[in-house]
Amino acid sequence: MTNTVPIITLDGPGGAGKGTICLLLAEKLGWHMLDSGSLYRLTALQALRKNVESEAQLAEIAANLDIEYLAEGDRLKILLQGEDVTDAIRTEQVGSKASEIAAIAGVRRALLDRQRAFAVPPGLLADGRDMGTVVFPHARLKIFLTASPEERAKRRYKQLKEKGIDANLPDLVAELKARDERDSERSAAPLKAADDALLLDTTEMSIDEVVNQVLQMASQRFGSNVN
Ligand code: C5P
Repeated sequence: MTNTVPIITLDGPGGAGKGTICLLLAEKLGWHMLDSGSLYRLTALQALRKNVESEAQLAEIAANLDIEYLAEGDRLKILLQGEDVTDAIRTEQVGSKASEIAAIAGVRRALLDRQRAFAVPPGLLADGRDMGTVVFPHARLKIFLTASPEERAKRRYKQLKEKGIDANLPDLVAELKARDERDSERSAAPLKAADDALLLDTTEMSIDEVVNQVLQMASQRFGSNVN
């Protein structure tokens, strides 16, 4: 099934705009979307709540997550065991814990099939760090989105403020850089562009410009499938 479903992967560091771009593209194309970072964040939230540290227990949490994704207008509501945790998983504390446990091979393995199950017709937009390299290596369009750390921190700051979550810009820059380093240097599925990925630096681009550029790439790759 996954080989025939059109898949666009969007990988890149935190704050590069992948989430926003993916949501907009999924809406325009009428395709499904996978926010793979949310799976690591949900595992992290459970781990923090249950005070779990051992790798085996963390992998078990990842394997048994009871999650529901509900599309609500232009946002995705996320339920964990029936509880709305959409905002709770977006804090820097959970993000930081997510990147820590994402380095554990057992956790990544536990989440692999769950991620691949998102590839159903008419198509999938997959947002993450290893979508094009590990989870969907056969995807026909792979994009690696980047932006400078300062620009990414500014975007995240704005997002958090809009959600009423307290944030501090210099702390965000430091946290993003630390997370980039952890994500890029880990041995299990490190953050890196697939050899066949197209690089898109969004530092100077508006959201609309990025969306239009990806749509153009998609119609070149998939032809009438995306019209
Ligand atoms: O994308 P987001 O910031 O929500 O991801 C949180 C963390 O989850 C990342 O910093 C990264 O360590 C991890 N992650 C990952 N692989 C993915 C998606 C996210 O390792 N495909």
